[in-house]
This record gives sequence, structure tokens and C-alpha cells, in this order.
Amino acid sequence: MNPLKFQRLYLLAVLSSLTSFCLVSCGEKELTFSEDIAPIVYKNCTPCHQPNGGAPFNLITYTDVAKRAKTIAFVTRTRYMPPWPADPHYTHFINERLLSEAEIAMIQTWASTGKKAGDTVNLKPTLSYKRQSVLGTPDLIIDVPPVNIANDNADQFYLIKIPYQIKEAQYVKAVEYVAGQPSIVHHANGHLLLFDNATNPFDGQRIIKTGDTNFVERFNQLKLLNSNGSVPTRVHSAFNYLPGSFGVKYPNGIGGFILSPNGTFVANDIHYGPSKKTLIDSSKLYVYFANKKPERPTFEIMLGTNGVAPIVPPLQIAPNAISKHITELTIYNDISVLTINPHMHLIGQQFKAYALKPNGDTVRLIHIPQWQFRWQYFYTFTKPVRIPKGSIIRVEAVFDNTLKNPNNPFNPPQLIGERNDHGGASMRTTDEMLQFIITYMPYEKGDENIDLTQP
Ligand code: HEC
Repeated sequence: MNPLKFQRLYLLAVLSSLTSFCLVSCGEKELTFSEDIAPIVYKNCTPCHQPNGGAPFNLITYTDVAKRAKTIAFVTRTRYMPPWPADPHYTHFINERLLSEAEIAMIQTWASTGKKAGDTVNLKPTLSYKRQSVLGTPDLIIDVPPVNIANDNADQFYLIKIPYQIKEAQYVKAVEYVAGQPSIVHHANGHLLLFDNATNPFDGQRIIKTGDTNFVERFNQLKLLNSNGSVPTRVHSAFNYLPGSFGVKYPNGIGGFILSPNGTFVANDIHYGPSKKTLIDSSKLYVYFANKKPERPTFEIMLGTNGVAPIVPPLQIAPNAISKHITELTIYNDISVLTINPHMHLIGQQFKAYALKPNGDTVRLIHIPQWQFRWQYFYTFTKPVRIPKGSIIRVEAVFDNTLKNPNNPFNPPQLIGERNDHGGASMRTTDEMLQFIITYMPYEKGDENIDLTQP
């Protein structure tokens, strides 16, 4: 290229990058709420920051955002909000809520230069941010028995039986837990129990506060066994709920299960956060039917606590120690991983999971550099991730049982670990767990190209 032309092109490139940089940070063009800030907020903040969205205040109108501009600048700059613990330099997932550097810079500039409203008249009251049921209109709504939440400002854990009866068995493709009081429901994990015909699902108690009672005893109180005393067929993780996460629905034909006419869902260890008001939580299950048998059933593998692969060294973390634990599993068939869920409790610090292929290559799954107990999502990949047979799935987790960990539940620190003295393992938040749940389907050619963002 002729050197003069090259110089001119180079100059142009520099100038244009400078001007676009100035748009966001030199204030040449004044940033306004309506044009620049609202779109970022509606996409990344309002799904939670709205009535019944789970966050403590609304971020919808100009005033909502302007009066908190300084804090918003801070929480976005530090990436405390929107909450997204997974490292985007490692792997990506659907519904990822992350701000770009440019968006963060825009918020900083807007907050420090007069918080201009712009033309808010033109700001259409868009409904696109609404946290409606993500999965649409359900075919069946099942009421979760209402739970009375005390005003004692303490965490509360319940086991809830959610019986149902339908005329005939149905194929189901998804179940969404719709929280009645999303600002205090922290998480719910639900199984489905399919009883023999003689068992009446409506028998027995519906709600038990979990805590120090024996796990097995609790199941008996809820009458969760078949009439002959055997354990009913169970569908694990028939639904899951976490603040900010939306129900998972895979493309047609993938996943789902049969709902027998006679059964019950069980919200296993539903966790309510502290409340200063007495409240009643009337949550619901939205059930979506499928018109045919799922062609590609999904399965779950669970590593670690209560799972198929042991934790090494055993999960007992001495006071004042920072310790690393591993759990790994060799898989003997090709699988297509759809969704993963890393789980630890309060003193968890870092979490990393990957697969080592027989040829030595690594398949990245997830890296959480700074564990956040509050945000434990079910992460769904944008496309199924193939792990070939003979691979080792490996989880590495670090726990910090020192006082430097602000979430340490004990001062002075105490031995924390898995516990089995209540019949079930480590149900209390102050016990520790290391779990990695993988939802997968047996691999079929072409799975790598399925777009999971388009259910
Ligand atoms: C997944 C749900 C969710 C999303 C998305 C979300 N927030 Fe939040 N936000 C919360 C919850 C819940 C809290 C209450 C504090 C906590 O539990 O961490 C909160 C707290 C805050 C606070 C108060 C922090 C403090 O400690 O005083 C600010 C400010 C905030 N959010 C701003 C934002 C902004 C700005 C966005 C978008 C860029 C956003 N949030 C996205 C759920 C969310």
C-alpha cells in the first residue's frame, strides 16, 4: 500500500476510535437516561428490580434510577450487579447477564454528569422487561401449600409436599416454580414422586420446617412412600428455582417426563431468606405438557456430596484453614451436557469444573472465581457440550474457613464439613457441601449444533 494512503487510513482509524470512545466517556454527546441508560437497565436490571422480581427496590422509571445513580455506578463498576458469578472468559451460557466495559463506562459518566433524563415522554412503557413466567401460559397450575413466614428475620427451610391429581398421565416438557414472594424465596429444588395407585398423595402433612429433625422421619410425616412402604419412582430436579434464574425449557423433543395421574411434587429444602414482616408465600407450579414422548430424555449425574463421586480429601475443613477439594468421575459413554449446577455453602470460595478427554484436551465447563452463596444458578450452555467417553469430569473447589471470609458463619471459626448425623447430609447452611449436578443426554451426531437459546 502506498505509505501516504496507509498513514491516512491509520489516522482515520485512530480518529474514529477516539470519537467512539468520546461518545461514552468524554461527554461530547450528552448521555441521557431515555436513550442510553434505560436500555441497559431494562435488559440487565429490571427483570429482578421490579415488583415481585426478587430485588429490594424497583429500577424502572427515570426517578428510580436517578435517585440511586451513585450506588448504581458503584455496583456496576465492581460487577456486584447484575449478579453473574461465572467467569465469562472461561465459558458462556444462555441468559448471561453481564455488562460490557462500554456499558459500565456509560453508567459512570451519566451518573457523574448531571443524570440527564432525556426525552422520557418517548420512553415507551415497554413491557419487555417484565418478569412474567418465561415459559408462557401453562397447561396446568398446581398450588404449592401456602407457607407462613415468621417475622423473626432468620433463614427458614421447609420441605413441602405438593400433591396433585390429574385425569390421565401426561408428558411434561417443563415445570416452572413461580414464587409468590420472590423477595424472600432463595431457592427451591423439587422432585416428582410417582406413587403406586393405592397411595393417596393428599394424605399426610404438607409442610415441615427442616432443621434438626431427622430426614427420614420428615419423609414419613409427609407420607412420601408407596402403600407397601417402598420408595416411589422419583424424577430428580423436576423444577428448580433460584433468584434471577428463569425456568429451563429445552428445544422441542429434549427432556421432560411423564406425570402420572397420582403423584406429588416435593419441594426439597425450600429456603426462605430473613423477613422482618410476617408473610404468606403462595407459590405455584406452572406445568407445560408435551404432546408426545420426549425423543431425547435427559439424565442427571451428581458428583460430590450425596453423589456418585467421592470428595478428596473428605469435606471437613479445619478452623482457620483454606482447603482445596476435588471430586472426579470417569464417564463411559459420549454425553451432551446441557445444564450444570455448582453448589457449595457459605465458606465456598472458588469452583472450577472441566472434563479431561482421553487425548489430554480439556473441555471447559465452568469457573467461578469468587463464589457467591446468594447466586447459585443452573447454567445452561448455548449449545450442548460434548464430552467423549473415557473422559474424566473433574471439579476443583476451594473453601475458606478463616475469618477473612466475611460469610464465615462462626466466630471463632469451627470445624465445618459434611454431616450425616441427621439422617440426611448437610442440610443446614452452616454445614458445607460440594456438589456438581450435570444434566445431559446421551450424545448423538449433530448435538453440538443444537441452539439451546431457542426453546
Ligand atoms: C438476578 C436478579 C438481579 C439483577 C439482574 C440485578 N439485581 Fe440488583 N439486586 C438484586 C438483589 C436480590 C439485591 C439485594 C441485595 C443482595 O441480595 O445482594 C440487589 C441489590 C442491588 C443494589 C443495592 C446494593 C446494596 O448493597 O446497597 C443495587 C444498587 C442494585 N442491586 C443495582 C442493580 C443494577 C444497576 C442492576 C443491573 C445492572 C441490577 N441490580 C441487576 C437482584 C438483582
